[in-house]
Amino acid sequence: MIKIICVCGARPNFMKIAPVIRALKARGAFRILLVHTGQHYDENMSALFFDQLHIPRPDINLEVGSASHAAQTAEIMKRFEPVVLDFQPHYVMVVGDVNSTIACGLTAVKLGVKLAHVEAGLRSFDRTMPEEINRLLTDAISDLLFVTEPSGIDNLKKEGIDAAKVHFVGNVMIDTLLAHREKARASDILRRLNLQPRTFGVITLHRPPNVDDPHNLAAIVKAFDEIQKEIKLVFPAHPRTRKNLQKTGLTERLESMKNLLLIEPVGYLDFLCLMSNAALVMTDSGGIQEETTILGVPCMTLRKNTERPVTITHGTNRLVPLTTEGILRVFAEIKKTGFLSKPAQPQLWDGRAAQRIADILARPPTSKNNHR
Ligand code: UD1
Ligand code: UDP
Repeated sequence: MIKIICVCGARPNFMKIAPVIRALKARGAFRILLVHTGQHYDENMSALFFDQLHIPRPDINLEVGSASHAAQTAEIMKRFEPVVLDFQPHYVMVVGDVNSTIACGLTAVKLGVKLAHVEAGLRSFDRTMPEEINRLLTDAISDLLFVTEPSGIDNLKKEGIDAAKVHFVGNVMIDTLLAHREKARASDILRRLNLQPRTFGVITLHRPPNVDDPHNLAAIVKAFDEIQKEIKLVFPAHPRTRKNLQKTGLTERLESMKNLLLIEPVGYLDFLCLMSNAALVMTDSGGIQEETTILGVPCMTLRKNTERPVTITHGTNRLVPLTTEGILRVFAEIKKTGFLSKPAQPQLWDGRAAQRIADILARPPTSKNNHR
């Protein structure tokens, strides 16, 4: 048996790890230990996804919770190390670009355990983003790098990563989307929120430059105020955003908007149903840029850059200037075209990425797999 620790910690990790665990289990060749770092812990940021995506209960929850970057990363490492020492895995697998990703990755390689990184190679080239640092460092120490889009292969090549370690497998987040699309149709969220298909926009925000800076947050909220006069908006607010809206007094402003619904984060099936039926999405999320590309829903990304360029070259994504005027201008342009977009399917975003990953991991271990 190949022993592998699968790590998850924050909301987008759950959609990524779910199909990988399923594919590994189907091989029958793996002994899996699922570790949740506890980076996200609210019911609607964590537990809900395990139920909806049929992810097994984590074998271990490190219950690290929220803290500064250094404190959170260090605490995850401290709590993860004895788990690795006890389980003695051949591989540790991390996904995405959150603090849990680099913390567990670094812990693994320092113990001589091989590291597999799912969603390797993405680069925004913006080192002020904590995620960019997490991506660069995790890729630098990984033994197996599973890439979602061609830009990832180019980026890793430029960074001098040995091509033999790099595998272009497609996108596990899209595996999850395709596997749950039918089920999401049964969600009653449109009825509950009194929404008609293609008549509303969906908003998500959580990036520090957008939500931690009161000036930028106010400019964005001002744009939403104008847009909700033309189209209904649904805004499931991330806890970081919720706290900042509260601090800046913007919660009342949003709640006073007649055509904007400020709600708690919703489960995956409800969110997929919302996105699938939306006229457009306004977001600063990484994963949602990819999901809207597959769904063919126009996506306004409230960021200066994206580490997922294929969603722009092949998909429905557009970067939007971070000013009230910039947001309103792009909204007006999209509205003019009638909120129409075509679903796109970037190469290998076909629902089988996790199977490709399992195939590669199931290859007979070389002597280097014997980690000690
Ligand atoms: C993290 C990731 C980000 C990812 C996002 C997905 C890092 C550096 N950032 O950002 O890349 O896009 O998750 O959602 O890893 N909080 C709660 N309840 C929770 C979780 C968080 O109230 O269950 C609040 C806490 O006040 C916390 C804040 O949200 O301090 C931020 O949480 P944290 O995990 O540090 O970063 P995110 O902004 O969620
Ligand atoms: N999502 C969700 N409920 C919500 C908002 C988002 O299920 O209320 C899903 C979304 O469909 C995607 C993932 O959460 O699969 C994206 O996570 P997030 O935006 O938190 O992180 P990022 O992708 O930016 O790292």
